[in-house]
Amino acid sequence: MKPIRKAVFPVAGLGTRFLPATKAMPKEMLPIVDKPLVQYAVEEAVAAGITELIFVTGRNKRSIEDHFDRLPELEAELQAKNKQALLEAVNSIIPSTVTCIYTRQAVPMGLGHAVLCAAPIVGNEPFAVLLADDLIDSDVPATRQLVEAAHRHDGSVLALQNIEREHSSRYGIVAGKVTGGSCMQIEAIVEKPAPADAPSTQAVVGRYVLEPEIFDCLRATPRGVAGEIQLTDGIARLLHQRKVYGCEYAGTRYDCGSKEGFFRATVELGRKYHGLIA
Ligand code: G1P
Repeated sequence: MKPIRKAVFPVAGLGTRFLPATKAMPKEMLPIVDKPLVQYAVEEAVAAGITELIFVTGRNKRSIEDHFDRLPELEAELQAKNKQALLEAVNSIIPSTVTCIYTRQAVPMGLGHAVLCAAPIVGNEPFAVLLADDLIDSDVPATRQLVEAAHRHDGSVLALQNIEREHSSRYGIVAGKVTGGSCMQIEAIVEKPAPADAPSTQAVVGRYVLEPEIFDCLRATPRGVAGEIQLTDGIARLLHQRKVYGCEYAGTRYDCGSKEGFFRATVELGRKYHGLIA
């Protein structure tokens, strides 16, 4: 498999679950302690060797672009006041060797459609997809675990987590045969099935390494659950032509798309990395 240099961040969602906080601010910019959610995902991608960050944005998302841009006035001000730690925090958001590219998803037609919007930028090479809502705290960055698995297996790899069957309708659910270690070769994948219809309790969380063949699959994918073009349905097509694996990652995932997960991430990361007591 070719090197995985590019990562797609679908960040066009409206974030209605966090209204009114997200009325004028993207949900990806909500902070966990002192960093916006999207920065955790970006740092994870960069730690996996990704050098091109492709953000699929929408209206009201300007602050994401501003966040990953330089702000010379602020840097000069912090320098003049000798606030070195803050200057370092601002300057180290992304390394200078990493490029940010922005494109827009003009209409909210689903995750599969958002990934397809990145096709002209990704081109004909494998790439990662990170959903910033899923914050994964781990010793080895989750995306790095996936990238390594993709090279080992020479195929697409999805991050898996075992869930309670009653929660199956929140996730893409897979079935397949175990290939060794914590990985399986996926034979079926279905988006948000009812518990009775779920083929297993192995759920996809928001990390993917995909081969570029996914784009033609997505182009052929009709609207699915919620009337949207689902990435899961595109992957179901990809299974017919390419090998797709699922690997359980080592780490703790926080579903920051829910208030409970967001709150838990704030408390646990605050304790672990900032010595805050709550
Ligand atoms: C998306 C995907 C779903 C996946 C989930 C992981 O759903 O469509 O297959 O399991 O992310 O977080 P969403 O959470 O955007 O509804």
